[in-house]
Amino acid sequence: MRIIPIFSAMLLALSACNQAPTETVDSNDNLPVDVHSYANPNEARVTHLSLDLEVDFEAHVLSGVAAYTIKTYGDAEKIVFDTDNLNIDKVLLDNDHEAKWELSEAHPTFGKSLTIQLKEGTTKVAIFYSTSPDARALQWLDPVQTAGKKHPFLFTQSQAILARSWIPCQDSPGIRFTYDARIRVPEGMMALMSAENPTEVKPDGLYSFIMEQAVPSYLMAMSVGNIAFQSVGERTGVYAEPEMLEKSAWEFSEMENMVVAAEALYGPYVWGRYDLIVLPPSFPFGGMENPRLTFCTPTVVAGDKSLTALVAHELAHSWSGNLVTNATWNDFWLNEGFTVYFERRIMEALYGEDYSDMLMQLGYTDLEHTIEDMGHDHPDTHLKLDLEGRNPDDGLTEIAYEKGCFFLIACEKAAGREAFDAFLKNYFTTHAFQVMDTEGFLALLKAELLNTPELQAQVNIDAWVYGPGLPEEVQKPSSERFVVVDQELEKWNEGVEPKLLATANWTTHEWLRFIRGLPEQITTEKLEKLDREFGFTASGNSEILAAWFQVAIRNGYETANQRIESFLIEVGRRKFLTPTYKAIVAYDGNTDRALSIYAKARPNYHAVAVETMDHLLGYSPL
Ligand code: BES
Ligand code: ZN
Repeated sequence: MRIIPIFSAMLLALSACNQAPTETVDSNDNLPVDVHSYANPNEARVTHLSLDLEVDFEAHVLSGVAAYTIKTYGDAEKIVFDTDNLNIDKVLLDNDHEAKWELSEAHPTFGKSLTIQLKEGTTKVAIFYSTSPDARALQWLDPVQTAGKKHPFLFTQSQAILARSWIPCQDSPGIRFTYDARIRVPEGMMALMSAENPTEVKPDGLYSFIMEQAVPSYLMAMSVGNIAFQSVGERTGVYAEPEMLEKSAWEFSEMENMVVAAEALYGPYVWGRYDLIVLPPSFPFGGMENPRLTFCTPTVVAGDKSLTALVAHELAHSWSGNLVTNATWNDFWLNEGFTVYFERRIMEALYGEDYSDMLMQLGYTDLEHTIEDMGHDHPDTHLKLDLEGRNPDDGLTEIAYEKGCFFLIACEKAAGREAFDAFLKNYFTTHAFQVMDTEGFLALLKAELLNTPELQAQVNIDAWVYGPGLPEEVQKPSSERFVVVDQELEKWNEGVEPKLLATANWTTHEWLRFIRGLPEQITTEKLEKLDREFGFTASGNSEILAAWFQVAIRNGYETANQRIESFLIEVGRRKFLTPTYKAIVAYDGNTDRALSIYAKARPNYHAVAVETMDHLLGYSPL
C-alpha cells in the first residue's frame, strides 16, 4: 500500500518529463461519478484522517476534530465533503488560518455538502464538529439494551452512506484514506475501531488507533462499551460483552481455519489481525465487514456453530469489497456477489461440498422468491443498478448477493474451477486497494477468463448483468441432503406423524429447508404436533425461529404470538424484522397488531431498521 504513493510520485515525475499524459498515476485517480456523494475527488481528495473524538454517553454526542491530509489536482479551489446532521464549528487550513466554508441545503437522504475554500498549496484541512443525538450511523444503547444491563453501549454502522453522520468525510467508496484516531470514553469502557485494536480496558479511557491500510469511509467503524476480548487463534479473536464472551468465542472457534482456507483460495490476508465483535441484539445487520474487526449480530451465536457462514462471509469481504471495492453503489454486486461466492467456497473447504450445497440451495430459493416479489422485469433485478436519486440501501436485496453469486458460478462452470480460481486470485492481487466498476470487471472477464468465442457463447453476460430476473442458462443448485429432507416433508404431507419422521441428524439448514417447504395452510392441530415434537417456537436458533414465524403467522397459530412479540422487541436485525412484520400485516389485513408491537420495539432499533419499518408500516412518530 505504501508502494502506491511512491509509485504515483514516480509516475508524476515521469509525466513531468513529457511522458504521455495518459500515463495516469494509478487507476484510482480518475474516479467515476458517484451520484450518492457530493465529494469532488477528481479536484481534491482526502488521503489521511486524524480523528480526535470525545464520546459523551449522556448527551449522545461525539465531538472533536476530523483533520485530513488532502491532495489536489490542477488548481483546485475547493474540497467538498459529505455531512449529515453534523454541527460544524470551524475549519482550519494547514493548522492555522480559518477557512471559508459553506453547508448546502439538507437533502433527506444525502445530507448536506460542506464546501471548503482552499488556498494555494493547502495540504491540511481540519474540521471541528459535533454529531447530533439522532445521527443515523450511531446507536446509543441504554444499559437495559445490553447483555450486562449495567453499562451503556455505542456502535456505528457506516455502510452505505451513513459515515457522513458521524464524521465529515468524502463519503464515496472509491475514496480511500489511512487513519489514526484518539477516542476518549468514560472510565472503564473499551473503544474499538476498524483498526489496530486494544485487548484491554485503558484505565484513563483514552484510546489510540492506527489504520495503515487505506479504506473508504463506509468502512469507518467504532464500538464503545463494557467489552472484553478472547483469543481464538494466532491472528483471530472475539470481542463481546463479558456475559457473551465465552459463548461467542466457542461459537467462532473456527475463525482461524477460515482465514487459512480463504488465503489458500485467493491469496494472503493483508489486514494483519482478523477479529470479530458480537454486538447487542439491536445491531441491524447480520454482519458488517469492518476491516480488522467484523461487527456481528448475537443472533448467529446459536450454540452449535451452525450459523458461522456469516463469519466466512464477512471475512471474504477482506478481499471482495475491502481490497477491491465497488466503485459506486450501483456496482454493489461486485462487493456482495463475489463475497457470497467466496463465503461458500470457504464453507466448502471447511465442511465439505454437501454443506455448501445446502447454502447454495437455500440462497437460490431465496433468490427465486425475491425475483417473484420484485417482479421478473423489475430494473432492480439487474446486477448493475441505477440508484440515482435513491437511497443506496434500496440496492440491498438478494439480487446483488445471490444473482451475483450465480453469475460467477456460470463463469466458473464455463471456464472450469481451476481457471476461475486463478482469475479471481489475480483479480484481487492486481486490483488491491482500488475500485472496480461493473464495466471494468466485465472487460477483465472477457480478456482474461472468457477469452474465446466458445467460452463467451456459454455465458450470456449481458443478460446476467444488464437484464432482469434470471437467465435461462442458470445452473440450478441441488443438494443431496435436501433430497432427504424433501422426502420426509412429503411423508408428513401424506399424514405421517412428526415423531415418525427421520430427522435425527438434521442440522439448522435441513430444518430451514423443512420449515420453508411446509405448505401454505396447516391446521392448528398439525402445527401443535410439529411444535411439540420439534420445539420450533422454543428454538434458540434465530434462523429457525424466523422461518417458523412465517408459518405460524400465516396460519394464525397463536401459541407462537408471545415469542414473536418478544423476538421483535429484542432483536433489531432487519433481515428478520421485515418478513415478520410483513407476514403479520398480510395475515391481519391491516397494520393494527404490527403497529402495536412496533410501538414497543421501535425504541430498540437502529436508525436503518427504523427507517425501513416506518416505511413498511406507515408509522409516523408525530
Ligand atoms: N456489507 C454487508 C452489510 C451491508 C450492506 C450493510 C449494505 C449496509 C449496506 C454485510 O457484509 C452483509 O452482507 N451482511 C449480511 C450477512 C450475510 C451472511 C449475507 C447480513 O447482514 O445479513
Ligand atoms: Zn456482505
